[in-house]
Amino acid sequence: MLAQLFTDAAEACGGFSPLTATLLLKAADDLCSGGVTTRVMAGYERDRMGTVPGLRFTAALHRLVLEGRAPGLAKHYPSVGGSPHLETLWDDVLPVLHEHTDELRGRIGATVVQTNEPGRSAPLFGGLQVAAQHAAAVAGRRTPFPVRLLEIGASAGLNLHPDRIAYRAAEDEVHGDPDSPFTLDPQWTGRPEADLTRPLRIVDREGCDLNPVDLSTEDGRLTLSSFVWADQLDRWDRLQSALELAALDPAPVQRATGPNWLAERLATPVPDVLTVVWHSVVWQYVSPADRAEGRAILAAAAARATPEAPLALLVYEPRRTHTGYEFRLLLKTWPAGASLRLGSGGGHGIPFTWEQQSWD
Ligand SMILES: C[S@@+](CC[C@H](N)C(=O)[O-])C[C@H]1O[C@@H](n2cnc3c(N)ncnc32)[C@H](O)[C@@H]1O
Repeated sequence: MLAQLFTDAAEACGGFSPLTATLLLKAADDLCSGGVTTRVMAGYERDRMGTVPGLRFTAALHRLVLEGRAPGLAKHYPSVGGSPHLETLWDDVLPVLHEHTDELRGRIGATVVQTNEPGRSAPLFGGLQVAAQHAAAVAGRRTPFPVRLLEIGASAGLNLHPDRIAYRAAEDEVHGDPDSPFTLDPQWTGRPEADLTRPLRIVDREGCDLNPVDLSTEDGRLTLSSFVWADQLDRWDRLQSALELAALDPAPVQRATGPNWLAERLATPVPDVLTVVWHSVVWQYVSPADRAEGRAILAAAAARATPEAPLALLVYEPRRTHTGYEFRLLLKTWPAGASLRLGSGGGHGIPFTWEQQSWD
């Protein structure tokens, strides 16, 4: 079962990260033959697929490399200047697994997947523009609504700053904040159905997370970095830029599961702003009971929304299709009752294709 989850994870990242895919496949073989990986993963044999134990395993190894505590393995890791040799990789992993068995097992158990991916700010930025302008049209306003952004499963809060990033959509086409120290190439096909030259104003931003990451600490930054696939240097650079940007004015992320936190914030409609509830690649980790409660809280808040105190739900989550996974950007607005699929893209938000249609 666990070996199968490792194999599935290898399949999901294989086209993007040969290093991670190889680690996962070799570890799956080792699990099947009762090797040292069995001891590293002891206690997690029944972990749910959604908790992605394979990625917690590769992140725990990556962290040892980043801390300089696995020098024999570091030569395969581009994140620390190495170059992967996939044929000999596992030979260099085995001594690390033997030496750090207990520590690795502890770390794999203590962490949930903490991929706080700033690339997802690009679909978020476009989705917020659509939502703010759509709500303004419903209310008969000429200017888009300012946004109050509430994120469930915000991790370190790196995606709470979508208005502060420069999105270079083409050589001569920059959206967001052109003076930002953080420039993203969003790799867009098509464009959101919104006027992107209008400024996106976020007047309030906060998140919650079951296990928030404190980006002001070395430990927090290492946790986030360890979840980047080590041979994806563009993502590595993106994360470091996002960390620097967020550190200028960190957004609060409270330790909480979604329902209670959301209930407090949605109890009373807030006039003259569009309240947006946002989550990306979180739903799979949330328990069925919390999901049901979250939906009920949102439905009650939706019933209280008015044209002058509107509410929106914006999500970027995976859907299994017959060819693998598709990540879709979905928007619901109240009181208008619009339900839109804005487009779809890669798991990390880039590339992304804008193609607006109704969502049933
Ligand atoms: C894969 S990360 C995604 C982080 C962020 N949304 C992003 O897209 O970059 C999943 C996050 O969900 C959080 N999480 C998992 N279960 C949760 C729950 N029940 N309530 C709130 N956050 C949760 C985890 O701690 C983790 O930070």
